[in-house]
Amino acid sequence: MKEIDFSGKVAVVTGAASGMGLMAAQEFARLGAKVVMCDLDEATLRQEVEKLRGGKVEKSIESVVACAGDVREFAHAEAAAKIAASLGGCDILVTCAGGNEARCCKSNVPFYEQPVDVIDWGLDVNLKGAVYFARAMMPQMVAKKSGVICCLGSVTGFEGDGVGTMYGTAKSGLFNFVKGLAIAGGPHNVRALCVTPGPVLTRAAMRGMPTALGRAGETHELVDVILFMCSDNASFVTGTNHVIDGGRLCMYQPFRAIDSESLGIAKR
Ligand SMILES: NC(=O)c1ccc[n+]([C@@H]2O[C@H](COP(=O)([O-])OP(=O)(O)OC[C@H]3O[C@@H](n4cnc5c(N)ncnc54)[C@H](O)[C@@H]3O)[C@@H](O)[C@H]2O)c1
Repeated sequence: MKEIDFSGKVAVVTGAASGMGLMAAQEFARLGAKVVMCDLDEATLRQEVEKLRGGKVEKSIESVVACAGDVREFAHAEAAAKIAASLGGCDILVTCAGGNEARCCKSNVPFYEQPVDVIDWGLDVNLKGAVYFARAMMPQMVAKKSGVICCLGSVTGFEGDGVGTMYGTAKSGLFNFVKGLAIAGGPHNVRALCVTPGPVLTRAAMRGMPTALGRAGETHELVDVILFMCSDNASFVTGTNHVIDGGRLCMYQPFRAIDSESLGIAKR
């Protein structure tokens, strides 16, 4: 396998102030890419960009740019695209901005009681944000005859959620979205795919979520896959959804009697 090297590449990452987006941005920079870090949380974003520029990575230190904004606004995606163009054109887009609307909007009620603005938030951040960013970046990739779009899904896109119902709906939308992008982008050597996590320790609350491995994932266990998928090592991967969940989904077998307790599997 070729060593991963993003020298000469321009990577745009949404949700880059925290969690997997932040670590992915740090790793892209460490591996030589110019990085446009996008997030709504402007203060944290600027802090993280300063840390990167402050010499915590080996190279590309000056080539990390903050772009604060809301992924629900197409103007934000356009602003990020403008920065990417000034750096040489977007090669890699990773859409990490997202979250369950019930948690993020502190609205822990069933779907049929959710305020419409909470429903809109869930759909717009998790689905439309990725759509807007792909729409804004893809022309640069098509012009370069090379590019990759990596959208962060979630196992909830398979499981469903009666409270944060839009979260799973939007994430399953992304599974289909990348297929369309793969078909549109294929003739131009532009790839698109989903990396779909199970529970990841970007939040301590994920620690108790059941998986076959009996633990939640470390952030780097997802970011390593994202980096691989965005590298030339994955040059034949497109239109697909890659579930990285410690075996969470394979535990759901409703038509087969399994004795979770004897298997040592904690019930939710
Ligand atoms: N952590 C998990 O267990 C887990 C599991 C499955 C899927 N995922 C998905 O992976 C992705 C990354 O998860 P994470 O836990 O690393 O994220 P995180 O919660 O640590 O960070 C999300 C970032 O998105 C930003 N953001 C939120 N709304 C925004 C908006 N409207 N515009 C711009 N930025 C916005 C936040 O400010 C934050 O910095 C998300 O899409 C999430 O749904 C996470």
